[in-house]
Amino acid sequence: MRIVLVTGKGGVGKTTVAAATALRAAEAGHRTLVLSTDPAHSLADAFDVPLGDEPRHIAGDLDGQQIDTQSRLEAYWGEIRDQLMAILDWGGVRGLEAEEFLVFPGMDELFALVEVQSHAASGLYDTLIVDCAPTAETLRLLSLPEVLSWYFDRVFLTQRRVMKAARPVLTRMTNMPIPGDEVMDAAENVFMAIERARRLLLDPSITTARLVVNPEKMVVSEARRTYTYLSLFGYAIDSVVVNRILPDDISDPYFSRWQEIQRAHLDDIERSFADVPVMRLRLFDEEMTGLDKLRILGRELYADQDPAVGFAGRRPFRVVEQDGEVALEIDMPFVAKEEVDVVRDGHEVYLTVGAYRRSFVLPDSLHRRDVIGAKLESGVLRVRFSEHRGK
Ligand SMILES: Nc1ncnc2c1ncn2[C@@H]1O[C@H](COP(=O)(O)OP(=O)(O)O)[C@@H](O)[C@H]1O
Ligand SMILES: [Mg+2]
Repeated sequence: MRIVLVTGKGGVGKTTVAAATALRAAEAGHRTLVLSTDPAHSLADAFDVPLGDEPRHIAGDLDGQQIDTQSRLEAYWGEIRDQLMAILDWGGVRGLEAEEFLVFPGMDELFALVEVQSHAASGLYDTLIVDCAPTAETLRLLSLPEVLSWYFDRVFLTQRRVMKAARPVLTRMTNMPIPGDEVMDAAENVFMAIERARRLLLDPSITTARLVVNPEKMVVSEARRTYTYLSLFGYAIDSVVVNRILPDDISDPYFSRWQEIQRAHLDDIERSFADVPVMRLRLFDEEMTGLDKLRILGRELYADQDPAVGFAGRRPFRVVEQDGEVALEIDMPFVAKEEVDVVRDGHEVYLTVGAYRRSFVLPDSLHRRDVIGAKLESGVLRVRFSEHRGK
């Protein structure tokens, strides 16, 4: 099983690259499904075929699906939300406030990822290509599973135990609506499905992200942030696709300044993303939609490489041991020292980068060692632990 998340700023050519990648994977013999979790779907337009909420056959070994995130939210969470809402309502929390508590931003797209997981588990496909929502959305969404498993572990299980004990008393003494066991089971199933999705998407031997950029200043700087945040949340990046490059053989003076600007950005991209393969794709002289054009585009992009097998992602954080000293290493290629904050609290290390924070639960072997320093060097943050066990 191989999953490729195609991501990047809006308009850079994500959908086109995802579509061409999927077509090429299918033609290389992989049973492939391309699906979009971006509520602004355009996969159908890219292929020029009708697509819907269920997988539909496109060509050969290729199926496509545009997930209706709103209906997924309803299907997975609707019943649970309604029941929990009744309890909140009883407690005096009403309307929008309750709704906000029970359905947070990005939750709908989260269930789209659960859908990705169920396709992976179905055995029907070898390769899943995911056309993700634009950068910021995707990032938030991808970071959610971490947050949710926290929610599940600490809040839900406790609540469930309390409910079990309190139900007989509560039903006798009050008119508080009590969620039935079915609802609690349903909620537990949902959280378990999310947890499975998280594990699948954070396994770099299965899932990697492919970053699409254009040789433009704003796009490149955003791609750097994306790289950092994806690493922070544990996603492996397998390559960068630079799209819409003006071909060298255009001699029109109107474009010569643009060619120069692009060349400078291309150098910058090659330097910045030196650790991952950088692939180039020219700006074609027409819109690249429909199977025939996507096939041409895919061939130019990947040449003889298999777009599903030929790319490896390395785990963005690792525990390494050297000369008795242990360190947690995290790829952070584009951050400045001042942007990073490391805090140790019990068995967890909290890492903050800009607006995002993530906690790392330390492996048992590190529980009793002290953090003795953190250092950012050559794009890798090393959190060092003491050689000798602390108190
Ligand atoms: N290399 C390219 N050459 C020509 N047209 C392109 C190229 N890449 C993308 N396009 C066109 O640009 C438009 C936007 O691309 P799209 O893949 O939908 O972007 P995104 O999904 O990132 O918003 C589409 O009409 C697409 O056909
Ligand atoms: Mg798109």
